[in-house]
Amino acid sequence: MIAETEVQETMISSHPDPPEKTDIPRSAPVESQNLSVPAVEFREVHFFFDDEKVLDGVSFAVMRGEIKIILSGSGGGKSTILKLILGLFKPDEGRVLIEGEDITNYDESQLKPVRDKIGMVFQEGGLFDSLSVYDNVAYRLHDEDVPENEVEMEVRLLIRFVNLENEMDKLPNELSGGMQKRVGIARALVGNPRIILFDEPTAALDPPTAATISALIIRLRDLENVASILVTHEMDTVKYITSAYAAVSEKGEVAVKEEGENFCLSNTKILMLREGRVIFSGTNEEFVQSEDPYIQNFISGTEMEPGHNTPLN
Ligand SMILES: Nc1ncnc2c1ncn2[C@@H]1O[C@H](COP(=O)(O)OP(=O)(O)OP(=O)(O)O)[C@@H](O)[C@H]1O
Ligand SMILES: [Mg+2]
Repeated sequence: MIAETEVQETMISSHPDPPEKTDIPRSAPVESQNLSVPAVEFREVHFFFDDEKVLDGVSFAVMRGEIKIILSGSGGGKSTILKLILGLFKPDEGRVLIEGEDITNYDESQLKPVRDKIGMVFQEGGLFDSLSVYDNVAYRLHDEDVPENEVEMEVRLLIRFVNLENEMDKLPNELSGGMQKRVGIARALVGNPRIILFDEPTAALDPPTAATISALIIRLRDLENVASILVTHEMDTVKYITSAYAAVSEKGEVAVKEEGENFCLSNTKILMLREGRVIFSGTNEEFVQSEDPYIQNFISGTEMEPGHNTPLN
């Protein structure tokens, strides 16, 4: 269960001197970008591993300032979708577009500037054990020989954004699992990506930590206009992200609040896959009201094995 709204708000707003909207400027001003073009678009994507069909004509679009939550049973193709977006896999049929650019047949050198627009938060964190929090976050900038004063400015901002200023010099194994996930998020934010892919960012975390990470994702959506794809199987995370929004108070404090019953500010949609096909696309309200037994079983936690009529466990 996600903690109560008040607890969440306290968690976010009690942090001294919270970051403001201007803390993390995006790489190009919002005004100069065409907001009607999807940040990420799949058009009828088919994908096989050998003879196994993983994606069977998947289409969707994610706009800036929007989160797309992708749900499926285990092995349903969620991580594969993220790898297709990064250009690590190529579709067998169909097109993948990033900010309107068809990247389907791009080679590695063409993919480099596309990948620079995308931040990826890996499920396992993927941190370097021998590097401090600071050096993990700074890794890409150090690798690109960015001058240290610029690195320091950006890295300190990002570490502050994920509330880890006191952990800056620690090694990953000195951090809790939730802190490590937050380092992974800070690292994914380097270079101000306009698109962020989160693979199970709240898996196996305690509810308050999961809520803190969900709140960070909400802030990126509402205050930074980031387009996110969020892979998760946790319905508490889905519920929170689809029903809460971030706002900056007159004092410049960031608060994440639950929406009222009757209006929807949260710009988040759900996509559910089964046997490689999209079986649901819409809002969380529509999702929970779906009469599809597979969806109802997924929601109630007795996920069905694809192609079978029996629960997995
Ligand atoms: N590198 C690979 N080589 C061969 N088959 C793969 C590879 N990666 C994934 N698969 C297969 O593709 C299918 C989809 O895998 P994918 O990792 O996208 O699922 P997922 O939805 O992310 O699952 P999970 O929820 O368990 O993380 C699975 O059947 C998997 O066995
Ligand atoms: Mg996966």
